Amino acid sequence: MEQQRHLIDKLNYGGSLSREEWILLIEGRCEELAQYLFSLAREKCQEHYGRDIYIRGLIEFTNYCRNDCLYCGIRRSSRKIRRYRLTKEQILSCCRSGYELGFRTFVLQGGEDGAFNDEEMAALITSIRKSYPDCAITLSIGEKDRESYQAFFDAGADRYLLRHETANPGHYARLHPPGQTLKHRKQCLFNLKDIGYQVGTGFMVGSPYQTTADLAEDLLFIQNLNPQMVGIGPFIPHHDTPFASAPAGTLELTLFMLGLLRLMLPKLLLPATTALGTIHPRGRELGILAGANVVMPNLSPADVRKDYALYDNKLCTAAESAECRKDLERRMEAIQYRVVTDRGDSLNHSAQVTPAIN
Ligand code: 5AD
Repeated sequence: MEQQRHLIDKLNYGGSLSREEWILLIEGRCEELAQYLFSLAREKCQEHYGRDIYIRGLIEFTNYCRNDCLYCGIRRSSRKIRRYRLTKEQILSCCRSGYELGFRTFVLQGGEDGAFNDEEMAALITSIRKSYPDCAITLSIGEKDRESYQAFFDAGADRYLLRHETANPGHYARLHPPGQTLKHRKQCLFNLKDIGYQVGTGFMVGSPYQTTADLAEDLLFIQNLNPQMVGIGPFIPHHDTPFASAPAGTLELTLFMLGLLRLMLPKLLLPATTALGTIHPRGRELGILAGANVVMPNLSPADVRKDYALYDNKLCTAAESAECRKDLERRMEAIQYRVVTDRGDSLNHSAQVTPAIN
């Protein structure tokens, strides 16, 4: 364990680790080492962000998807789920109630739904931008052409979330059908950065066939991309996918990875994700105590929430709803953190920190 402790110290002092060192550190972890990592990760996070927890209002506006990711419950081949798409008016109404609840970031997340073409997306973004000049608009709608990303950016979108899922091309190929490649996903991420978006990427912990070497690749890729946000959560099987009987990722490894990410990129925006909250009743609190500093409650209308089922038992009950902001506040206060309502921009040097005023 001395060796692992030394590697954590190296990270804490700003050093970077090699692939072999990452593997040694992850494989050699134990409870005591994890506690050591989490205390440093909390300290590092508090240096930059204090005890502030940022909130993002998540609007899952369509569950139609042209992709067929093997792990995902809303994949094209899922025949049993009820498909829905919200109208522009419904989406704007989610923003309105979110704004009243104190949300200053709206995350428009959806499957890759051709019905929302570029013109429609741009018009939607323009409307939100006009109504909420003080809010950040985050998109999470998958792989698009550079021109589309540019058009959305010009319409007023500030941020984009696109998880790379796994940085090992061989592993990527086992999680996706042949038409979907890691190369294209990475190209999208670099295009988004180049255009000027604040970018979020991320991966699932414990996805089928994942090895420690794959996790090391994930960390190396993230270090190289240097995104403003990284979303990670445990893989959770969905009963109607090819991975229905694969084991879920663990809370323990997810928390450890959160701690490592915090030390590797101290100013990262690091959400304690819904998946983490799904595998353990205190998952999100534990995520924050391991170094996370963002939570993303659901602003979607209650009657469609259950249909955005990426995996089984996804949190979509009262505790997850934006109406329960008070509950979230109490949970954060119970661990001596506080929910703040500003846009919560990344302190990362390449982030734009001036609020939009158009
Ligand atoms: N378990 C956990 N996370 C999942 N995602 C998709 N399917 C699952 C699953 N079965 C994650 C992916 C995707 C994000 C929107 O949800 O990482 O990028």
